[in-house]
Amino acid sequence: GAAELGPYRHYMQKEIFEQPRAIADTLEGVQGIVPELFDGVGVDGAPGAAAWRVFKEIDRVLILACGTSYYSGCTAKYWLEGIAKIPTQVEIASEYRYRDSVPDPKTLVVTISQSGETADTLAALRHARSLGMEQTLTICNVATSAMVRECKLAYITRAGVEIGVASTKAFTTQLAGLFLLTLALAQAKDRLGDADEARYLKEMRHLPVALQSVLALEPQIISWSEDFARKENALFLGRGLHYPIALEGALKLKEVTYIHAEAYAAGELKHGPLALVTSEMPVVTVAPNDALLEKLKSNLQEVRARGGVLYVLADGDTRIENSEGVHVIRMPEHYGALSPLLHVVPLQLLAYHTACARGTDVDKPRNLAKSVTVE
Ligand code: G6P
Repeated sequence: GAAELGPYRHYMQKEIFEQPRAIADTLEGVQGIVPELFDGVGVDGAPGAAAWRVFKEIDRVLILACGTSYYSGCTAKYWLEGIAKIPTQVEIASEYRYRDSVPDPKTLVVTISQSGETADTLAALRHARSLGMEQTLTICNVATSAMVRECKLAYITRAGVEIGVASTKAFTTQLAGLFLLTLALAQAKDRLGDADEARYLKEMRHLPVALQSVLALEPQIISWSEDFARKENALFLGRGLHYPIALEGALKLKEVTYIHAEAYAAGELKHGPLALVTSEMPVVTVAPNDALLEKLKSNLQEVRARGGVLYVLADGDTRIENSEGVHVIRMPEHYGALSPLLHVVPLQLLAYHTACARGTDVDKPRNLAKSVTVE
């Protein structure tokens, strides 16, 4: 009802603005990287003992999820391989459950789910177990869900109830949980020094403040959304850690505005999507730092030559400026490994405000359900 919405027009907007609080709650009590953080339902023995044993034993990670949760998994792959040095595979649950794969019992199977009830993700988990992979962990927002009951270990995110069908605060809290998992695995494998642990924890604790300053970009995003509201297509480009963020940005836009949006790894532009660029195709580029911008410059020119208009979500320390056909929003700070949690926020706001401008049913987009509990 209107009372719960407070100053917000829709749950999606409210939930986007709750992210500093959701992240703070999710990280509350996290003083250091301790295995107890990942205790599951009914694990026996000393706190954290089961988690520690699992983390020591496994030598690869298999992430299974659907929708937005799948994109948080795709982001985590960069952390798990980059920081913890653990080979990581991310699979769409509905694909994994039906394909022949090569199981390795020394795999940590990680399911990611806001609801903990998504039919395909549960079935994929059961499929992995039937193949002899018994080390299971879930990153989940509902402590009483089937997913938490069925996984040996769990990290419960504290996003709070999410009502908007398009997931926002659940996604960023999943990323926080996945980053903690990365650090825990790095520690179990002796790949995390005390100094790095302290630095990462400090950066995590700063996230609520950093998110607040990103939310303050809303007026600039609203002005972008006025352009997007008149388009029927959009292209999102990202690279590295921000490629999954580009995918999530495109998903958010299509879910709530019904604009056809696609995301590509930036380097793929000239291998296909450039053919789509006309003056009717806005191109959003996510988080290009200067090194990427150098590489993108010729692409940017190619986009401009075809009349395409660029919307650049630039890192805090880039020097790209607004110019004809190039709109730049600069992020308040440069955030390193955790920057996906910040860069996704303007994309959520862009989808939200574009939907408002188009008058769609933001919180209940046509044909979509909050939780897909049947196949
Ligand atoms: C539905 C929702 C999405 C969500 C996906 C996975 O499609 O609309 O927002 O990302 O299910 O749900 P889960 O609860 O498993 O994260």
